[in-house]
This record gives sequence, structure tokens and C-alpha cells, in this order.
Amino acid sequence: MPFDPIVEQPLDQSIPTERSRTTLARVMGVVDANNYGNVHGGVIMRAVDEAGGVAAIRHSQGPAVTAFMDEMALLEPVKQGDLLTTRAQVNWTGRTSMEVGVRVTVQRLGIEGEIHVSTAYLVFVAIDAAGVPRPIPPVEPDCDEERLRFHAAEIRRASRLERRRAIKELRERGLEP
Ligand SMILES: CC(C)(COP(=O)(O)OP(=O)(O)OC[C@H]1O[C@@H](n2cnc3c(N)ncnc32)[C@H](O)[C@@H]1OP(=O)(O)O)[C@@H](O)C(=O)NCCC(=O)NCCS
Repeated sequence: MPFDPIVEQPLDQSIPTERSRTTLARVMGVVDANNYGNVHGGVIMRAVDEAGGVAAIRHSQGPAVTAFMDEMALLEPVKQGDLLTTRAQVNWTGRTSMEVGVRVTVQRLGIEGEIHVSTAYLVFVAIDAAGVPRPIPPVEPDCDEERLRFHAAEIRRASRLERRRAIKELRERGLEP
């Protein structure tokens, strides 16, 4: 398999949120839906992962892998024939990881405007040719709304890492008190 090139960029120069903003859209077809015309949750999750991956690659200027996907609520059914749109951007950056937020909406014939289907948060890690995490430049939130997203992402990161730590500790300790 060919490996995506890494575009060298200075690590001390922050990258505006705008750089990573990504919109992907696709009409939902027969294979995306069950017998009742409802689109499978996995199809929507894949669309989220794809848009998030593009945002992460745009920010990090090289390959990035999905490391974690937060729980994802599906607020409205998606139907065969809907135009599914995913909008993604990097909300927060660490040393090698990024939190990407993805908003999912659909447009449906006969309905005015867009229907909000879900909002998902994913962690992507930038990797080098050996699959080892590589450092990335920081994101620079460009307005108060983005600064708010950055701080909310920090709260989510703290809870992800704490959960991971607690489960690891439990597994190492076992069931003995
Ligand atoms: C993601 C992966 C590269 C991380 O490797 P690792 O050796 O665990 O790396 P580290 O422990 O150094 O963590 C790297 C970064 O990820 C973050 N991270 C790892 N697991 C995390 C989790 N569960 N939640 C939040 N952040 C996490 C770390 O905090 C660290 O962030 P930072 O550098 O910004 O501080 C590795 O687990 C992997 O390759 N996973 C498979 C990914 C994959 O195949 N995805 C599907 C295809 S795209």
C-alpha cells in the first residue's frame, strides 16, 4: 500500500481552525439502508469517520488514524434518498493527537432546511511512515465560539484519559480487593 506523504510544517506555528474545515456530502442509496428505508447507523458512523479523517489530515498535513470515537447519539432517522452532509473541523490539538468535531445533517425533498442528525467527537493521531505518533502544530481557534470548543474538548479529553487509566488499573489489579 502506498503511504501518504508528510508535508513538513513548523511545529511552533499554529494552524487556524479554518485550515481543517471539511464538508462531505453523499446521497443515501439502497445499499445504505435497511428494508424499511432507514439508513444503517454504521453508514453514518463511517461518513463521520471519513470527514473527521480528512479534517485531521488537513491539519496535520500527513496521515492520521482514528484512535477514539466518543459515544454518538442518532437524533433523527436518515432515509434512503436523503442528502447526508458531514461537516468536520479540528477543535483541539495535543502533542500528536487532535479532537475533531463532526456535525451530521440531512436534506430531504419536501422539507425546508437541514435536519440535525448527530454531533460526534473523535480523536485522531497523526502518524509517521512507521505508524508511530508524530508531533503536530497546535490549532489556533479563530473566534470565541472556537475557543469555547477548544475548552470543551479539553474536558472531554480529561474524561477519556481518566476512563482509560481507571480501566487499565482495574485490569492490572484484577477482581481482588
Ligand atoms: C492511535 C495509535 C497510533 C496510538 O498509539 P500509542 O502508542 O497508544 O500512542 P500514545 O500512547 O503515545 O498516544 C498518542 C496520542 O494519542 C492519545 N490517545 C491515545 N489513546 C487515546 C484515547 N483512548 N483517548 C484519547 N486520546 C488518546 C494520547 O493521549 C496521545 O496524545 P498526545 O500526543 O496529543 O498527548 C495506536 O493505538 C494505533 O495505531 N491504533 C490503531 C488506529 C487505527 O487503526 N484506526 C483505524 C484506521 S484509521
